[in-house]
Amino acid sequence: MPYKKLVEKTLEFHKLNDYDLILESILSETRKFLNADAGTIYIKKDNFLKFHYFQNDTVLKDQSEGKKHRFSKLKLPINNESIAGYSANNLKTLNIDDVYFLDNNLPYKFNKNYDISTGYRTKSVITIPITGSNNNLLGVMQIINKLDPNYTNEKRVIPFSKEDEEVFVKYFSIQAGIAIESAMLTREIVLRMVRMAEMRDPKETGAHVKRVSYYSSIIYENWAKKKGFSKTEIKKNIDILKTAAILHDVGKVGIPDIILKKPGKLTQEEFDIIKMHTVFGGRLFENTSQPLDLAAKEIALNHHEKWDGTGYPGYFEDFSDITPDNICKKPKKGEEIPVFGRVVAIADVFDALVSKRVYKPAWSVEDSVKVINEGSGKHFDPLMVESFNESMKEIKAILEYFKE
Ligand code: C2E
Ligand code: SIN
Ligand code: SIN
Ligand code: SIN
Ligand code: FE
Ligand code: FE
Repeated sequence: MPYKKLVEKTLEFHKLNDYDLILESILSETRKFLNADAGTIYIKKDNFLKFHYFQNDTVLKDQSEGKKHRFSKLKLPINNESIAGYSANNLKTLNIDDVYFLDNNLPYKFNKNYDISTGYRTKSVITIPITGSNNNLLGVMQIINKLDPNYTNEKRVIPFSKEDEEVFVKYFSIQAGIAIESAMLTREIVLRMVRMAEMRDPKETGAHVKRVSYYSSIIYENWAKKKGFSKTEIKKNIDILKTAAILHDVGKVGIPDIILKKPGKLTQEEFDIIKMHTVFGGRLFENTSQPLDLAAKEIALNHHEKWDGTGYPGYFEDFSDITPDNICKKPKKGEEIPVFGRVVAIADVFDALVSKRVYKPAWSVEDSVKVINEGSGKHFDPLMVESFNESMKEIKAILEYFKE
């Protein structure tokens, strides 16, 4: 029994910070370990299980990083009527050999809708509740259709064994609980910081920053692939980028209301003060060497630099003496601008354009895409603009999902 491999696998998702990547990684590692064709993770939200991740090697071919998050609104009530609902409601593991032949006396039924719409045949399923440190329910993991390892040319589905259930799935679900709980904590703290900024600047909403974060990770992934980065490196960077991008504008807490909430066009002096939100943000993440904080600092400082060297705040002396006169003397240009700054610049401007602001109406997606493309080589890194254009399908899905 490959215990060593199990431990290594388990440690792999503990290295991640981002909530979505952790869920996805837990699911793929558990599936790989049990040789299962498909799997789903549901996360508890109020009295529902929200369908979060779905992986199926037979039905879904394209499972690149950015495309795995399905942005589905599907949810199940936590009650005894469904398999996942029952497992959540009773904190019980269910190991079912064939979901099409459930005993009629059981309270739960299998929902065939997904199979009907895809032509897939769900058969053996292990369903396990994921709990946190107080035995509180966090979600449910389902591992679907164990494949017989003796048949490599065809997929032959077999039941999960008692050992699968006891050793591997339970061990994985405990580790999953620890990782998910810690990721939720990080996410809550980060979103709390955003809410603080939101009190000052009502447009920096949870939905805006989440959209910017998701667009950024998808655009970055396309860009990094063009650059020939390895899969491992891309995943590691996206893990950091997704959380750090949420914090791009928290420095706005340092900007007076009278300027931030001004309904009309800003004067030059007012805009010079606005520019300080980048260095205020950077200063919040000074004095740490945590990768997440370093990335948040990099993004706060660089999301308003422009490819042609006309952005801000540029190079400056130090954080102890920030004034409009001390910054913005020597803007960064081209590849001097860190990559995370270049990607968040596009994501942020695109979202500012399609959103209503106190100083402007919401623009159409088409017009906003046009502005981004006109900015290629001027405001934005041209290769990043290309990556943005290629990500349009996912960007629209994100926009739809996090509608205000
Ligand atoms: P924000 O509203 O989040 O906008 C982010 C960036 O999106 C802007 O950075 C700008 O590059 C782009 N953007 C937003 N609206 C438009 C637009 O109508 N046309 C074009 N071409 N680009 C647009 P920027 O300019 O550095 O501004 C940074 C922040 O300063 C803005 O964040 C906003 O909070 C504030 N701001 C900028 N202009 C005004 C204004 O006229 N009135 C007020 N009240 N605030 C402004
Ligand atoms: C999601 O639904 O994918 C994220 C929800 C949240 O972060 O609030
Ligand atoms: C939040 O958690 O504060 C943001 C809510 C949302 O828009 O998803
Ligand atoms: C800019 O593009 O720098 C200013 C545009 C705006 O915020 O209205
Ligand atoms: Fe900003
Ligand atoms: Fe923003």
